[in-house]
Amino acid sequence: MRAATPFDEGSEDTHRLQAIRRLEVEIAGCRRCPLAVGRIHAVPGEGNLNALVMFVGEGPGADEDRQGRPFVGRSGQFLNETLARLGIARTDVYITNVVKCRPPDNRDPLPDELAACDDYLARQIEIINPRIIVTLGRISMRRWFPEGGITQLHGRVRNIGRGRIAMAMFHPAAALRNPQWRSAFEQDMARLPALIERAARANEAAARGEALPAGVPHPGDAD
Ligand code: URA
Repeated sequence: MRAATPFDEGSEDTHRLQAIRRLEVEIAGCRRCPLAVGRIHAVPGEGNLNALVMFVGEGPGADEDRQGRPFVGRSGQFLNETLARLGIARTDVYITNVVKCRPPDNRDPLPDELAACDDYLARQIEIINPRIIVTLGRISMRRWFPEGGITQLHGRVRNIGRGRIAMAMFHPAAALRNPQWRSAFEQDMARLPALIERAARANEAAARGEALPAGVPHPGDAD
């Protein structure tokens, strides 16, 4: 199963690639909040431009700060393995965080830091146009599921408009710490292949200009 549509050279995809590269350069030089002071690298995110799924974590840790890439430490390894077991290649998805610079000592990002960075995530979503956004952990969950704790809300799927759904999941680092959260994380992730299939079918139908069955988010839906 492909979790991304193929790159189309010489079309709109080339413009989107340029847009994402410009955004990465902007993030690399960002000084909007004090997290810029302590970073080695800003970590914009990486992945497939035509990904159907975007994972949104919390913020870079020490490994990510050193390498400038998201989810490359222990929790990233676990995320990659979990995806691979489900037949999803990491290179077919897009991975980013709600804040692009490492908070000191891996503390939670502060409200001002989240606010300063939010427009980068909004622009990434606009450019990549994923059908499915998976939030990893309680911090990114709150952007789309502000109403409760992660133990209640993980596994919840919500139509967030513009043909997108958001799904809340535990953070892989939390899953590695606690066997109960790990099994919840693995069960939630196991639902992704079916959601990806449905998203791919919805995109194909939309490309043919066909109406979609009720309840399936359509790329043209209003927010
Ligand atoms: N944890 C996160 O939330 N994001 C990363 O990129 C790495 C670890």
